[in-house]
Amino acid sequence: MVTMKAVRIHTHGGPETLVYEDAPRPEPAEDEVLIRIYAASVNPVDWKIRNGYGKDRFKRHLPFILGWDVAGTIEGTGSQVEQFQPGDAVYGYTSLFRDGAYAEFMVAKTTEIALKPTSVDFIEAAAIPVAALSAWQALFDTADLSANQRVLIHAASGGVGSMAVQLAKAKDAYVIGTASARNADFLRDLGVDEIIDYQKTKFETAVQDLDVVLDTIGGDTQERSFGVLRKDGFLVSIVSPLSQQTAASHGVRSAMIGVQPNAAQLDEITALVDSGKLKPYVETVLPLNEARQAQR
Ligand SMILES: NC(=O)c1ccc[n+]([C@@H]2O[C@H](COP(=O)([O-])OP(=O)(O)OC[C@H]3O[C@@H](n4cnc5c(N)ncnc54)[C@H](OP(=O)(O)O)[C@@H]3O)[C@@H](O)[C@H]2O)c1
Repeated sequence: MVTMKAVRIHTHGGPETLVYEDAPRPEPAEDEVLIRIYAASVNPVDWKIRNGYGKDRFKRHLPFILGWDVAGTIEGTGSQVEQFQPGDAVYGYTSLFRDGAYAEFMVAKTTEIALKPTSVDFIEAAAIPVAALSAWQALFDTADLSANQRVLIHAASGGVGSMAVQLAKAKDAYVIGTASARNADFLRDLGVDEIIDYQKTKFETAVQDLDVVLDTIGGDTQERSFGVLRKDGFLVSIVSPLSQQTAASHGVRSAMIGVQPNAAQLDEITALVDSGKLKPYVETVLPLNEARQAQR
């Protein structure tokens, strides 16, 4: 058996369940590629699944490799794969149902990956897919955000929020973003038109009649977001289901989404990155064997 280094969980629980060890190196099926991984990024879904989120629905085998944001090079291809060649630099977001990217190698479907933007390195590239695709699918596919509309982005300083701000600005929307005071300069750099410090100001006292709200927080933040939309405005959440009754009482539309892999959208995201309109922000870089620290 050919092995590789990987970080796997053998049981669900805290960061201590992440084990750096030898694991079988995967083989690509006919429609898959084998990626030699340079970088994986850490998303909240990684620790949620580590904790056991959706374990009955996803029915994953254990041990299991976390991490679904990947950047690397094509090491090998299945017999049906024509669009990628060994050596191509790629990045992507792959299915949560299969082993992920906290490893030296992983397999991916060609529908999950795209050629990596040339203007960023592998580490920056790995920080893009989950966050950018989530923002894209929430703002454009679901809420149909268009030019000159006004959108409120909660947690504009977060992974998804920072991508959502830049995508909305690239669409010529007017962007209001919430963050704590320590991130005000960051939001200004991202291009946010109006900043609300959510620790000092209740956002519903500062904005009204919005076209779209992106909820990345849930709970009380989601509940209060219904009231800041114009009639027929759209509240899209990436964190928790929304009350259709509350939406109807406000005369607004709402939906929760789960991000899906999408190579065609990644190609469009690549173009935005290479044209300087979309920039990933990397906070910390750690080696694979410090995955526990990364998740903490
Ligand atoms: N449904 C899906 O497919 C999907 C996809 C991606 C992510 N998600 C979920 O979406 C959530 C956000 O993901 P992420 O990667 O963007 O997380 P993240 O990067 O960890 O977001 C952290 C940010 O949240 C901000 N924040 C915390 N409480 C806030 C509040 N009450 N109001 C405004 N901002 C607040 C913090 O800002 P300050 O430091 O300025 O306080 C921080 O910058 C997670 O729960 C994740 O699991 C779901």
